[in-house]
Amino acid sequence: MTGALNVGIIGCGNISSTYLHLAALFKTIKITTVADLNEEAANARAKEYGVVAKSVADLLADPGIDIIVNLTTPEAHFAVTRDILEAGKHTYSEKPFVLSLKEGQALRELSATTGKIVCSAPDTYLGGTHQQARQLLDAGELGKITSGTCHLMSAGMEDWHPNPDFFFQSGAGPVLDMGPYYVANLINLIGPVARVSALANTPQSFRTIGSGPRKGAQVPVSTPTSVHAILEFENGALITLATSWDVKAHTHAHMELYGSKASLFLPDPNFFGGNLVMAFENGAQNIVPPWDHPLMRPNQQHDEGMMANYRTVGLADMALAIGENRKPRCALETSLHCVDILLSILKSAETGRAVSLSTTCSRPEPFDPDAARALLV
Ligand SMILES: NC(=O)c1ccc[n+]([C@@H]2O[C@H](COP(=O)([O-])OP(=O)(O)OC[C@H]3O[C@@H](n4cnc5c(N)ncnc54)[C@H](O)[C@@H]3O)[C@@H](O)[C@H]2O)c1
Repeated sequence: MTGALNVGIIGCGNISSTYLHLAALFKTIKITTVADLNEEAANARAKEYGVVAKSVADLLADPGIDIIVNLTTPEAHFAVTRDILEAGKHTYSEKPFVLSLKEGQALRELSATTGKIVCSAPDTYLGGTHQQARQLLDAGELGKITSGTCHLMSAGMEDWHPNPDFFFQSGAGPVLDMGPYYVANLINLIGPVARVSALANTPQSFRTIGSGPRKGAQVPVSTPTSVHAILEFENGALITLATSWDVKAHTHAHMELYGSKASLFLPDPNFFGGNLVMAFENGAQNIVPPWDHPLMRPNQQHDEGMMANYRTVGLADMALAIGENRKPRCALETSLHCVDILLSILKSAETGRAVSLSTTCSRPEPFDPDAARALLV
């Protein structure tokens, strides 16, 4: 790779500041330009981060831009990604990158005809802790994974996000909004899913915004906010995935995997670091000594304390993969299978029937400490 690829962003809302801030850690990408339907939002981010603000049309037409990142809200993801491909640029989308298999397949075809790559968040499973879990599994330390549990449950998103409307509409809810972090990590650890079954409810029909200029306003809820699913993996493992934005408090761990030799307790897959705990039949529980992976070091203050957040590493890996002419880790094939799993969970909850998946994927390549160091400035 001779130099960083030039990156533009479409969508200058809440998550754009994370991208603009963290991309500077990686030597394969350089964010130069931002755009938004809302010109003020683009101008504000441009001023804050010393980049150029353009109209969406001007960014799409800019010959100096190699990759455009799609940070719009979910209902706009497909059309914006399609426009980026048609403009002859590679693209990286926030999750979920599409809201139907048909949209995902259309983008796959467009990617093939234009020769431009489509990748998608989440990239959190590239975090040092989740990759160390992958290494333990691949080394056979847990034996065969037969089952497990994931719990992503909270009181909701309306307390902290100033415009939380999209979280409660079709295309989001806890399954499509937070589910990708868990399901992408499960694919990384266990592999593809064959079948899902789920039940859902929606206890609140309105949510009250808790912060920002619209504080006190009510937003309608049109997607299930509590969904409990069981995922049957192609290798036979059964994982319970409990998702909710109606839970005030609970004591469940984020992720537990049960193997024939030992169990593994994993931290929040929405972040990159945290402790791994291995537990055994004799009652022993040991924190796994962390390996020396740069993408697990806490670097940001959050409500939970200092956390490791290296979002944009998937974009940085994509840029290197383009230069090396290899498959990127956050590839379309994996994202499409992830979306298929999440949509199938919602379909199962709606119909009361188990749903067999029509897509599959291979596990992304492991991302060891040397691979991570190769991307860092
Ligand atoms: N906020 C977070 O902490 C967070 C974290 C991880 C991922 N995400 C994901 O990132 C995406 C964006 O989330 P957000 O919180 O930044 O949303 P947001 O509502 O704060 O910002 C979205 C921005 O996109 C712009 N936009 C919408 N449609 C557009 C279009 N067609 N063309 C150009 N601009 C358009 C809007 O004007 C707005 O400025 C979502 O998919 C979300 O799931 C958000």
